[in-house]
Amino acid sequence: MMTYPSVYAVEDEYLVCVPVDAECTMWVEVGGKSYFDHSNGILRSAKYLHIARVPMVALDEARSYKVCLRRIIERKAYFSECGGIEERVFEFRPVAEKAEYKFVNLADSHSRHEAAARSGSFFGDDLDFLIMNGDVPECSESVDMFKAIYLISGPITKGRIPCVFSRGNHDLRGVGADMLADYTPTTRAGESYFTFHLGPVWGIVIDCGEDKVDECNEYGHTVCCEVFREEEEAFIRRVVSRKAYKRYPVRLVVSHMPFNYLIPDKQFQIEIKRYKRWCRLVGRMKPTLMLSGHLHECYTEAPGGAHDSYGLQPGVAVCSSYVRDQYHVSGAITLSKDAVRVRYADSDGGFFAPDDEMPLV
Ligand SMILES: [Fe+2]
Repeated sequence: MMTYPSVYAVEDEYLVCVPVDAECTMWVEVGGKSYFDHSNGILRSAKYLHIARVPMVALDEARSYKVCLRRIIERKAYFSECGGIEERVFEFRPVAEKAEYKFVNLADSHSRHEAAARSGSFFGDDLDFLIMNGDVPECSESVDMFKAIYLISGPITKGRIPCVFSRGNHDLRGVGADMLADYTPTTRAGESYFTFHLGPVWGIVIDCGEDKVDECNEYGHTVCCEVFREEEEAFIRRVVSRKAYKRYPVRLVVSHMPFNYLIPDKQFQIEIKRYKRWCRLVGRMKPTLMLSGHLHECYTEAPGGAHDSYGLQPGVAVCSSYVRDQYHVSGAITLSKDAVRVRYADSDGGFFAPDDEMPLV
């Protein structure tokens, strides 16, 4: 194993993600049952990242899992040569109902994985869950760039608590980008937008795609984000109409880009009508918090704040990201029934900005 596993929540499953540094097959054992990283019955061994999908209910009940690896000596059409099974057990703590949740909103590390792993470790063992909110690698110029994701979430969580992954716009750039769905937690259909639930916490991951028009020269005719957003909007409408979020007291909107904000620079002023619609749709879910990054700014604002151009109602918006060489800032969030406190924890063990504290209405 390259580092600890990371357990990502997508819909009703946990995706146990295990980066490895040698060719091997992988499966996870939970409650006496094996969950393999396979493709239609063929155990995968060619990629450095293994993903096993485990039903949430099974891991929440078992509270531990065993990662099993079998080294490949030579994979052949007949009589492949393999090593013995190497295994390691990890304890797992699902999110339980409590008076105060502690979680981290981590975005925009842009490949500074060591600094981000430090800033994201603010709560230590008290952390309930981790949100990896986009632009974690600098770009996707090779699939190796995605290692940064697991080199951050692995050390922070040590495989013991759940994570949530949300794609950022820089993740769409480079020759590895079209393999992003194979190397990051997505739905079984490969979609980067989805809902998740962690005990009493429900969330929707919204993916805005790129930050400029599809025709922008920077993208060189390699994206079709407008069509992607159209498809995603149908998903958001389905989430609103099914109302599953009503069963959960805490509701999070996770979006790398704070789509309720019209950035003053005109090149970023895209999809204005769509993002206004998304704000209205999301408002119907009555979110507790919206969590973002992208702007490389740190703020916590009530609806109608300086960054709320379209009126995100209700819900407090938290944007927490700042990066420079060897330095990163994460949002360390304490959420109770009545208030949210955000500490902008930096990778040097200090704080980038004073704490924000805001009542929840
Ligand atoms: Fe971004």
